[in-house]
Amino acid sequence: MKDNSQETLSPETCSKKIFELTGAKFEPDIAADLWSKILKHKWFLSEKVGRDVGYRVASIDFIENMEQAVDEYMSYQRLDILNQMGAQRIGREIWDTISDSQPPKQLVQRRIILPLTEESLSRKHGVVPPKAITFFGPPGTGKTHFAKAIAGALSWWYIEIAPSMLMSDGVEKIGANLREVMERARNLDEVVLFIDEFDEIASSRDAADRIDKSITNEFLKQIPLLKNQGNKILLVCATNYIRQLDAAMLRPGRFDCIIPVGGLDKDGRTTILEYYLSKLNTGEIDLDQLVDRVSGFTPADIQYLFHQVAQFAFEQELATQKDYRVTLETFAQIIPRITPSLSDDVIKEFEKDSVLYSRI
Ligand SMILES: Nc1ncnc2c1ncn2[C@@H]1O[C@H](COP(=O)(O)OP(=O)(O)OP(=O)(O)O)[C@@H](O)[C@H]1O
Ligand SMILES: [Mg+2]
Repeated sequence: MKDNSQETLSPETCSKKIFELTGAKFEPDIAADLWSKILKHKWFLSEKVGRDVGYRVASIDFIENMEQAVDEYMSYQRLDILNQMGAQRIGREIWDTISDSQPPKQLVQRRIILPLTEESLSRKHGVVPPKAITFFGPPGTGKTHFAKAIAGALSWWYIEIAPSMLMSDGVEKIGANLREVMERARNLDEVVLFIDEFDEIASSRDAADRIDKSITNEFLKQIPLLKNQGNKILLVCATNYIRQLDAAMLRPGRFDCIIPVGGLDKDGRTTILEYYLSKLNTGEIDLDQLVDRVSGFTPADIQYLFHQVAQFAFEQELATQKDYRVTLETFAQIIPRITPSLSDDVIKEFEKDSVLYSRI
């Protein structure tokens, strides 16, 4: 069979030829490179079947296989990036163990989870699934917990970026590191990208010094780039200081939702208490009474309370060598040692912020 691989055509002609044969469009330079490969492939295929397969068959076969090779390469590259960025798989339990009444669970379900999972219904009604959201609220209220729970509910990867990671090469490099992280993340699919304490990289440019300003500017540039990507990536940011964020960051069009995460109601406290009680060696406990005693406690306060109670029970049994069961009495001893994070002042400020900044 004649080897046509030496045929030379101008890049523009190659591009035109490939388009006529396959319907695929390539830049002239790339097309010229592809054309020489297609000619080799034509020769190779023809040798294989014992007859001239023709330009059309050879071109289509080559492009189809090339796509497969590109797909394979992309998924290999994604795995590599996931690895480098410390991606985690989160189980669905974390979402299921949040009480339905705990704000903002229902809101997150309605505005984030369902539009992303019910894709064709979203398309039918013109609902645009979210690409970037922000949680704000006092420390320990469950912002990080919600970000993880979303990844679990969606069965997507979870990647957490702490500003301290971006600062590891010095303050001057934060902007460049942020750009690099976001560029890598844009290649991924089905990922929740969580940026904690993001006020540190998106603080108001009025109050910030020169370096801070450039970081905020970089972040402002990166959000639309991420949002324009066709892949399934949800950027979730969290902050305790929504007031300190740059005004441009909070403008509509950047974040699809700005969601307050505040205190727990009775039901929310009950669910968390039940979860932690199941890990203790307990006697009789009136749950309703315990729920009332921890009003003003954040999930982080409750978690801390249970660590203290567990340590106390452990030491009691060590000292007495008798089975020690945690009761309401035990809690009554430990609770006064813990100051609830949500004081009236904190709640008041948070409520003000919720009115001013929420967008849901
Ligand atoms: N149902 C729940 N909702 C929220 N948090 C929970 C729940 N159950 C347990 N927690 C635990 O409460 C702790 C505090 O939550 P989390 O770290 O998400 O708070 P945060 O708002 O991100 O705090 P910070 O502002 O300090 O980062 C975590 O250890 C989390 O696992
Ligand atoms: Mg957090």
